[in-house]
Amino acid sequence: MLSGVLRAGLIQLRVLDYRTVDFYDNILGLQRVGETEDGRIMFKGYDEFHHHSVVLRKAESPGLDYVAYKVDSPETLERLKDETEKWGFPCTEIPANSDNPGYGKRYSFVIPTGHTIQMFAEVEMAERHPQIENPYPWEEAPKGMRAQLFDHLLLYGPNVHETERYFCEVWKMYAPEVVKLSDGKHFGAWLSCGMKAHDLAIIEYDRPNSLHHVAFRLEDWGDIGHAADLLAFHDLRLDVGPTRHSITRGKTIYFWEPSGNRIETFAGGYEAYPDHPQRYWDMDHVPRGIFYYERYLVDSFMNVVT
Ligand SMILES: [Fe+2]
Repeated sequence: MLSGVLRAGLIQLRVLDYRTVDFYDNILGLQRVGETEDGRIMFKGYDEFHHHSVVLRKAESPGLDYVAYKVDSPETLERLKDETEKWGFPCTEIPANSDNPGYGKRYSFVIPTGHTIQMFAEVEMAERHPQIENPYPWEEAPKGMRAQLFDHLLLYGPNVHETERYFCEVWKMYAPEVVKLSDGKHFGAWLSCGMKAHDLAIIEYDRPNSLHHVAFRLEDWGDIGHAADLLAFHDLRLDVGPTRHSITRGKTIYFWEPSGNRIETFAGGYEAYPDHPQRYWDMDHVPRGIFYYERYLVDSFMNVVT
């Protein structure tokens, strides 16, 4: 049932300072993989096999450089590159082992929301990967918030309807859940390439290329409470939660890392199947859709992006 696109596998974020690097390392609890030649810092979750999955680039302002999705074979990669160009999005090739050690060739293109999306088929296995033979749940005790892996992200930008159409028709993703405007167009879409409720979410917003949040998976509700304790202890700014979404049903907490990128740590959510009916929301019910307990949307959640 998988579409050929497997998951979000690599993300590069802009951060301001060393305090933020320390956040990803010791508070969020990712494993530090190393540094690239030009000084970007590579991380991964303890439950990930990829060489690395999160790259931090020091810059003047926070935000998203790109997100890259893994596809199931070099053949799929070439086919999707051809179909993407035919769809009208020119692709740029990023050679293997160039800016990201351990990564095969990637193709990069821009979607109508203004974001840079990439796809790749090959990546080396991480040195510290989940155990394979008679495995323990982990090799070393997870630290900080015990983030297991980079899971998904929410992009804010214009042309959500057209962007959703690309991902559904070319990547063969499907949208288990959407928010509909009165004209039937989609204001927001949660897109899946497998059985997760979403691997990518997009919401209509005036400013192109905006990042709403990057989400890391935690094991359970207990770990979300632990994450809340840690972010209070470290004086990080809470946005919303701990709470539950109605959309996807994930349990969640939102906060800002020291550079101002919004992070979600979440657990749970329903299993999605492409033959299930699409769940949909009208605009009046969106507050309950997003925050099941509170039933209102705080301004910051709607309007603060990087
Ligand atoms: Fe999310």
